Amino acid sequence: MLVLAIETSCDETSAAVLRAAGKGTCTSGTCPPSLVPAAAPDVLSNIVLSQDEVHAPYGGVVPELASRQHIKTIAAIVGEALSRAAVGLEAIDLYAVTQGPGLIGSLLVGLSFAKGLAYYHKKPLVGVDHLEAHLEACFLENPGIEYPVLGLLVSGGHTALYFMEEPLSYKLLGRTRDDAAGEALDKIAKFLGLGYPGGPVIEKLGRNGDPKAFPFAVPRTKDRSLDFSFSGLKTAALKHIRERGVGKEDPRLVDFLASFEDVIARALVDNLRLAADAVLPRSLVLCGGVARNTRLRMRFQDFARQAGLDAYVPSPKLCTDNAAMVGALALKKFARHPDMATDLDLDAYARA
Ligand code: KG4
Ligand code: ZN
Repeated sequence: MLVLAIETSCDETSAAVLRAAGKGTCTSGTCPPSLVPAAAPDVLSNIVLSQDEVHAPYGGVVPELASRQHIKTIAAIVGEALSRAAVGLEAIDLYAVTQGPGLIGSLLVGLSFAKGLAYYHKKPLVGVDHLEAHLEACFLENPGIEYPVLGLLVSGGHTALYFMEEPLSYKLLGRTRDDAAGEALDKIAKFLGLGYPGGPVIEKLGRNGDPKAFPFAVPRTKDRSLDFSFSGLKTAALKHIRERGVGKEDPRLVDFLASFEDVIARALVDNLRLAADAVLPRSLVLCGGVARNTRLRMRFQDFARQAGLDAYVPSPKLCTDNAAMVGALALKKFARHPDMATDLDLDAYARA
């Protein structure tokens, strides 16, 4: 079975073609049938066109420009995904598309395009949740991850902890009450005039900085729940910039950025630790655009080692938005519920 997947939830236009694999095997021989991992699908192509250059002058994504850009490029990106996979549309058995959450105008471009293809070719269409697709990126490269799984999703729009007792089950344990971690990085980079997206710029500039030079307090929610909060930290960082005059050309910038990035990583892993104590997972996964960050990956792996848990992070290109993760999740959902492939009433949603 071949799936063509489309992802346009924010500022990447992406299309991918995947071939479903057969049933997997249970390595321990003790898995109940619902937990036998499926073998990972083959990713025949995964084309991602970033709109960074369009939004960079504004220091953040401009929703109206994002949807216009998706309209301009979607047909070419889908064409490119098919040609790299060396298949024609007549060979596609299933269509998959991100339904939400994300920018509503952007989502509608991908959704309408996918609906058109599914309708014309009389093939089923599966709508996929963007956050669940990010989690799926971990399983795409490691189909044998053992359940229960605790997942930390850190992206530009979302920061959340999920408990997965079995495939396709997602229990939200905590999420950000204000800014997402990636958003805090993007906003500080914008304020300092460093460019967009902020996460990779901050990582690059702060790589050799001293993460202890600026002693930011690790943000915690007052009730010690598993929720996150990054807006106080962002305000503290802005205060430092203003009061201590840390600027773009300043020699202290390197340490400042390293310290800011590190405190975000510590806040994320602190909550992961609390959640792991509460739900006792077998495996940990880290996903979303910010999961590309080396400091965060290292803190995540260190914690997993101390806790004696298996830990997985997708390769960098599967951390940021891409259609392969959408196709992989759609295949799993379709295999479980072939009848769920939706009629064309499928609608986009902006919020989780
Ligand atoms: O998952 P994603 O591609 O889009 C959303 O669903 O939001 O994540 C984008 C976010 C941006 O905030 C970007 O600054 C951040 O991921 N990001 C990084 C790195 N690469 C991307 N943050 C820290 N370090 C990186 N290397
Ligand atoms: Zn995303």
